[in-house]
Amino acid sequence: MTDNNFESLFARLGRFPDVEAANLQAWDATDKLLLEAAAGLLQPGGRLTVMGDRYGALTLGALTLGAHPVRVHQDLITGERALRANAEALEIDAGFEHLPLGAGLLEGASLVLLQLPRSLAELEEIADAVARYAAPDVVLLAGGRVKHMSLGMNAVLARYFEDVQPQLARQKSRLLLARRPKPVPAALPFPVTEVNDELGLTVCARGAVFAGTGLDIGTRFLLDFLPRMPHATRAVDLGCGTGILAAMYARANPGARVTATDRSAAAVDSALATSRANGLDGRIDVLQDDAMSSLPDAGADLVLLNPPFHLEAAVHSGAGIKLIEAAGRVLAPGGELWTVFNSHLHYRPALERLIGPTREVGRNPKFTVTASTRRP
Ligand SMILES: C[S@@+](CC[C@H](N)C(=O)[O-])C[C@H]1O[C@@H](n2cnc3c(N)ncnc32)[C@H](O)[C@@H]1O
Repeated sequence: MTDNNFESLFARLGRFPDVEAANLQAWDATDKLLLEAAAGLLQPGGRLTVMGDRYGALTLGALTLGAHPVRVHQDLITGERALRANAEALEIDAGFEHLPLGAGLLEGASLVLLQLPRSLAELEEIADAVARYAAPDVVLLAGGRVKHMSLGMNAVLARYFEDVQPQLARQKSRLLLARRPKPVPAALPFPVTEVNDELGLTVCARGAVFAGTGLDIGTRFLLDFLPRMPHATRAVDLGCGTGILAAMYARANPGARVTATDRSAAAVDSALATSRANGLDGRIDVLQDDAMSSLPDAGADLVLLNPPFHLEAAVHSGAGIKLIEAAGRVLAPGGELWTVFNSHLHYRPALERLIGPTREVGRNPKFTVTASTRRP
C-alpha cells in the first residue's frame, strides 16, 4: 500500500464516541510510520498484535497489509468502539479481535505494533507482557511523537529486550525496535499495591491507570469535603481511576452502594483491586463504560467527579464537559454532582446548564470544588 492509500484510509476515520473537534484527529504520523515499517517485517503466516491503537488506524491499516487475524488490545473502551465504528463505516466486518492485555493477546506473536503510551508504568506492563507471552523471535515496533518520547522509554524496553534500536525520526515521529525478549520473573509486575498513609487506604494500580498508586492533588482537595457530601444510597465515582474516591466515599457512608466507572480497562481493574484490598468489594461495583452510557437515566443520588482535561497533547475541556453532561442524565432530580477542577477551566456555566444550581464549596490557589443539584 502506498502513502496515499494509507492517507486515504486515515482520512475516512472518525474518533466517535470520543470527543471530536477540529484540532483533534483520528490518526497521526506514527500510525503511518508503524504501518510502513510493518509492511517490511511481516512474514507470511506471521502473527500480528496491535496495542495502543487510538481509533483504528493501526488495526485497519494492518488489515490492508494482509495480516489476518489481527489481535488488538485497546485500554479505552472509546478506542474499541471507535475502531468498530470505523470498521463498520469501511464495511470491514472481520479480521480483528479485541483481547485483554495478557497471554491470549500475545501468545505466538511474531510482530507487535505499539503506539507508545504516555506513562512509563504502562509501557513497563506492555513490555513485560510481550517478553512474557510473544514468540521468542518477536519484533516489537513501538512508535510515538518525538516530543512525547523520552530516554526512559528506551530504558524500560532495555529491561525486557536484549536489543533495542531507536530508528531515525520522520515527520516528528520515531520508532523504537525491540527484539530478543529477556526472561521475566514468574510473578506479574502489575497491579502495584501501596498503602496511602494519609488516607489509610490500600491503592492498587495497573500500569495504564491515572496517577498510579499516587493521590492526585485535585482528588485530595475534593476529599477534604467528604464529610460535607450528602449520604447517598446510589453513588457513582465517574472516571474512577484507581477507585480512591469510590473507596473513601463507601467507607465513610456505610449505607451507600457505589459504582466506580471509567472508560479505561486498567482503571476498572485497578478500582476492583482497590475495593477488594480494602474489604469494600461487596459495596462497590466496577463498570468499564464511556461516560456511564449503560447506566439508567435518573438512577443516582450522587456523582463524584475529578474530570480529565488533557486530551492527547491539547488541553481541551471537551472530555470534562462530556462527563458533566452524562452526570446530568444519570442523576435523579435533587441528586448532586460534586466535582473538582482547575479554576481556569470555568466549568461553572456548563454545570449550571447541564446539572442545575451550582455552589462553590471550596477553592485553593489551583482548584475549585463545586456541588451542583440536579434540577427537576
Ligand atoms: C483526572 S482522572 C481521575 C481519576 C480518579 N477519579 C482519581 O481521582 O484519581 C480522570 C479519569 O476519567 C476517565 N475518563 C476520561 N474520559 C472518560 C469517559 N468518557 N468515560 C469514563 N471515564 C473517563 C479517565 O480514564 C481517568 O481515569
